[in-house]
This record gives sequence, structure tokens and C-alpha cells, in this order.
Amino acid sequence: SCSAGEAKTVVIGLAADSGCGKSTFMRRLTSVFGGAAAPPKGGNPDSNTLISDTTTVICLDDYHSLDRTGRKKKGVTALDPRANNFDLMYEQVKALKDGIAVEKPIYNHVSGLLDPPELIKPPKILVIEGLHPMFDPRVRELLDFSIYLDISNEVKFAWKIQRDMAERGHSLESIKASIEARKPDFDAYIDPQKQYADAVIEVLPTQLIPDDNEGKILRVRLVMKEGVKYFSPVYLFDDGSTISWIPCGRKLTCSYPGIKFFYGPESYFSQEVSVLEMDGQFDRLDELIYVESHLSNLSTKFYGEVTQQMLKHADFPGSSNGTGFFQTIVGLKIRDLYEQIVAARKATAPLRATKA
Ligand code: ADP
Ligand code: G6P
Repeated sequence: SCSAGEAKTVVIGLAADSGCGKSTFMRRLTSVFGGAAAPPKGGNPDSNTLISDTTTVICLDDYHSLDRTGRKKKGVTALDPRANNFDLMYEQVKALKDGIAVEKPIYNHVSGLLDPPELIKPPKILVIEGLHPMFDPRVRELLDFSIYLDISNEVKFAWKIQRDMAERGHSLESIKASIEARKPDFDAYIDPQKQYADAVIEVLPTQLIPDDNEGKILRVRLVMKEGVKYFSPVYLFDDGSTISWIPCGRKLTCSYPGIKFFYGPESYFSQEVSVLEMDGQFDRLDELIYVESHLSNLSTKFYGEVTQQMLKHADFPGSSNGTGFFQTIVGLKIRDLYEQIVAARKATAPLRATKA
């Protein structure tokens, strides 16, 4: 039988504004762990939780203390800490980490109300995704690894237009207004969390096309903190050097405006980081193996695993550029981190725990 210490859940935090690709990232992550994630069986159809064999993803909107009407009455947005119950968030994440099941509330995105709670059992890996995973210092302390998706305003705007205008029939003006309305609280409460992240994925407009404002071609930067336990940053060619690389040519097909990689050490909020950057997009996903073969420390289990994952989910948003590529890489690093934590625990487990 396992001691409580051995069963401990590994907790991952994923922070980003809504509509910034968290669910897409989660689909890539759970796929790396082998097995698609689905909502809990037989529960509330409006549950925000995703469960697979190894991983449970909970959405932190479930810790809204004020429902939609409550927020309206008080004049606070969902981003405002006053609309969220951090005490409960801390208690429940801590309980799950200690191997204890919890009755977690459900925020119903359709009705805007708080529904009756659902039972969440402690998984091997718990991902908490949402607006505030690194906001409360007590919750932050529980995280074994944290990620921040940093989507620049220009790109956020382009994605919102794409979705809300095309699919939801909103006007350009109303989309602009809703982004503007969120901005003060976003700057005050969401954005500052990136300084605590172990990895940040920054999504910016391309620099390959002068004055591009279409937001179709992206420059994506993977910022990886140095000195994080169980996490060693990916590098291009040589660890710690600075490199600019254009892979286009005989081995990689590139149409206009091409692809440009960059790698090097930098400083991020006064902390030492390594940055891997990709500007542009792939024409042919199968040729990604060429780029993959020049990267080191990818934590793959076999040659070409990144490329295989990318091909498997070619239909997900961001598969032809650095967003999908770096999300897949972070997924592999998290699998590695998880396996190292489990191995370290086994090594220090008391002898009586092993079978004779
Ligand atoms: P969230 O879970 O943070 O709300 P989603 O993963 O559902 O975000 O993505 C929201 C929308 O943003 C998608 O439907 C898509 O239009 C756009 N999007 C997300 N990620 C990307 C990406 N990497 N490239 C292009 N568009 C994206
Ligand atoms: C969720 C999302 C927020 C969004 C809110 C809508 O909580 O995470 O990003 O703003 O729903 O809130 P509203 O007050 O407009 O219903």
C-alpha cells in the first residue's frame, strides 16, 4: 500500500486571459500524457472540469465568489480578486495535493450562476487553469510548475475579431470596447502573475513583415526560467550561447515571409532565463523534424516525438507556428518534471513500502 506522501498530486498552474488558448494548450498537454481528457461522467453538463487517466484540469472560474449578477451589482469584473474566493481555492488545491477529494463549486458559463458542487478526486497531475493561478501567494506556493500565456494586445485583438465577429456576430466596435473595458483589471491582477511563471509563452506580431497588423503570422517566444527544480530549459545548438537561425533552404520549405529562430540567455523580471523564439510559420508540418533535430533537452521519449505530436493535432489552432510548437514542448517538459518528481519520491520512500 502507498503512504500518503507517495500519492501526492503534482500541481501545475496555467494562467492567461480568457480566449488566449488555454483550452487548446490543455488538449495538447493531456495528449502528451497519453489519453484525451473529457468532462466528468454523469455530472453537470456545464462542468468546466476535464479528466483523463492521469490528469484533471480544473478551471479557476469555478472559484468565482460573485456570479454574473453579483458582479454587475458590485461593478466588478471576473478579473477582480473581489469576485473570487481565494481561501476556498487554496483549501481545495491543498487538499487535492495531499490526496484528499473535494466538493468543488461549478461556475456555469451559460447561466452565469454558481451550480451545485462536483466531487473532484486527487489525480496524479492537477492542472489549475484560469485567470488567477499565481495570484494568491498560498496557492502559488502549492504549484510544482507554472506557465503564463502572454498574448500581446495586437494578437489578442486579432483572435477576438476572428472568433467573435465571425462566429458570434459581434461588431468591431463592441469587441474593441470589451477589450478596453477589461484592460485596467487585466493589467492590475492578471498580467503581473507572469513574473512568477517558470515558463512564459509570449505571442507577438511578426517582425518578418514590416508594419504587419493582420496578426496571422506570429513571433512566439518561449521564456524558460533557469534553476527550476526538475526543469532544464530547451536549447538550440549550444546551451547558453546566442544564436539566430534561418532553417529555410534545402531541408525546410518556407514560403514568404519565411521562418526565423532565435535562442539565447536573457533577463526577465531580474531573473535569469533562456529564450527560444520562432517567427513565421511552417509550410509542411512533417519537415518540423528538421527543426526538432537541432533542439536539445526536449525531454522526448523517442526521436521525432514533438513532430509526431504536432502532426497528430494539425487541426488545432496554432499548429503551423510557434504557439503550437512551444505548447507541445512545454507539455513534454511537464511530463518529464512529473516523472522526475515521482522517481525522487520513490527513491526517498521508506523501505517498508517496497515489496519483499
Ligand atoms: P481559452 O481556453 O483561453 O479561452 P481557447 O483555447 O478556447 O482559449 O482559444 C480561444 C480562441 O482563440 C480559439 O477558438 C481560436 O480562435 C483562438 N486561438 C487560440 N489559440 C490560438 C493560436 N495558437 N493561434 C490562433 N488562434 C488561436
Ligand atoms: C468568466 C471568464 C472571464 C469573463 C467572464 C464573463 O469568468 O473567465 O474572463 O470575463 O466569465 O463575465 P461576465 O461578467 O461578462 O459574465
